Amino acid sequence: MARLYFSGRDFPADISVGANILDAVIEARQPIATACGGMGACGQCHYSVVEGDKNLSPANERELKLLGQARLDQGERLACQSTLVLDADVKVRLPKLDDIIKRRQDKWTRQLKQRRAEQKAQREQRERSRR
Ligand code: FES
Repeated sequence: MARLYFSGRDFPADISVGANILDAVIEARQPIATACGGMGACGQCHYSVVEGDKNLSPANERELKLLGQARLDQGERLACQSTLVLDADVKVRLPKLDDIIKRRQDKWTRQLKQRRAEQKAQREQRERSRR
């Protein structure tokens, strides 16, 4: 049994070979974002490998598509796409909870502004067609 250490946090989690990192992070009750439920579609479950990258599965095509080579080269991974492949410890840095919340709020704000703009355009269209 290996350990998954979280940078800046006191308590590591036990992790077995073959375990998915997203599952391990959620089971350890650590903050991580996901909008696609671990399907490798949203790119929100990113984290950084601090130590032990050789103990993880290599980055796959979805990670390359969603993160890009530069971020992969800097040690970023998608939690839902990475698994422990060797029985050895890994240390990761997760995004701060405040950053996760801010990104989510920014996304909702963008969606709300877009919806309001669409509603305004529809109202104006209706008024023009009445004249
Ligand atoms: S949870 Fe969506 S890409 Fe990992």
